[in-house]
Amino acid sequence: MNMHSRFIDNLLYVLNYEPEIMENEDGLEIPESAPQNIRFSNVSFSYPNKTNLVLKNISLDIKPGSKVAFVGYNGAGKTTLVKLLLRLYDPTEGTIYLGENSYPQYRLKDIREHFSVVFQDYKCYAVSVAENVSMDDSDTDKECLAEALKESGISEKIEMLENKENTMLSREFDDNGVILSGGEQQKVAIARAFYDSHEVLIFDEPSSALDPLAEYELSERIRELSNNKTVIMISHRLSTITLFDEIYMINDGMIIEKGSHNELMGRKGKYYEMFVKQASNYAIPEELRA
Ligand SMILES: Nc1ncnc2c1ncn2[C@@H]1O[C@H](COP(=O)(O)OP(=O)(O)OP(=O)(O)O)[C@@H](O)[C@H]1O
Ligand SMILES: [Mg+2]
Repeated sequence: MNMHSRFIDNLLYVLNYEPEIMENEDGLEIPESAPQNIRFSNVSFSYPNKTNLVLKNISLDIKPGSKVAFVGYNGAGKTTLVKLLLRLYDPTEGTIYLGENSYPQYRLKDIREHFSVVFQDYKCYAVSVAENVSMDDSDTDKECLAEALKESGISEKIEMLENKENTMLSREFDDNGVILSGGEQQKVAIARAFYDSHEVLIFDEPSSALDPLAEYELSERIRELSNNKTVIMISHRLSTITLFDEIYMINDGMIIEKGSHNELMGRKGKYYEMFVKQASNYAIPEELRA
């Protein structure tokens, strides 16, 4: 009791936690039939109780169906931008619009359901492969699951397991459970986005644990499979995003360059510098680019 009592404060903190952004019950519904632009208008942001601006005067326009990439060094503000997209936080200044209306005019639930996200700090849970992908302990759509596992490049591995998709991804509660490697776990997390894909797919560093070939194949698949969906991809490895429609280079919370890969290379600015630096020690051989 004495030992446990030390953690009571933490427990109460969680139990009493009130979300700062409340649901707007009378909010608008996001029309499914007419895909909408997502627009940041002069958005600046600092985290609660902090004074430094992590995002500074960001304006951008993401068209439905477009494939957009954000690149930049550690701490530039890329993940923070994703958090604002999902309305986990509201901007400190400026407005985010979906179509004609600003975020607070919509139902919060609708905004969150507009996106499928693979977070940078993805986790696999101590449940079966199937439940790890569907994130639901009721019925899993088998066909969808098989397709999602294939698309994320992990189906062969799962097929080899004795209990296939019913294998527990932990040994904590089941001696027959398996521990996947870091890259394999990341593929399971990616399969979630393919299983339940909403209007906009967001991948925050989806290939950090993948080997070069798996990474290249993944980014190709993401581009092809999501042909009519909007894709937002954050990547440190620029070779994976060269075919994206629009690339934003973020530095210290600001957009410093934007354009297609060719445009940015032609500009010979920061993107070009980063690309050339990486290309010299991170090239995919021509014969693998089938
Ligand atoms: N919850 C938080 N509270 C306060 N500051 C934060 C919080 N999360 C991130 N930051 C700060 O915001 C800045 C931007 O972080 P962010 O995670 O958006 O960077 P990033 O571009 O995604 O970096 P990386 O490439 O390493 O993933 C960093 O300086 C970080 O310290
Ligand atoms: Mg990040």
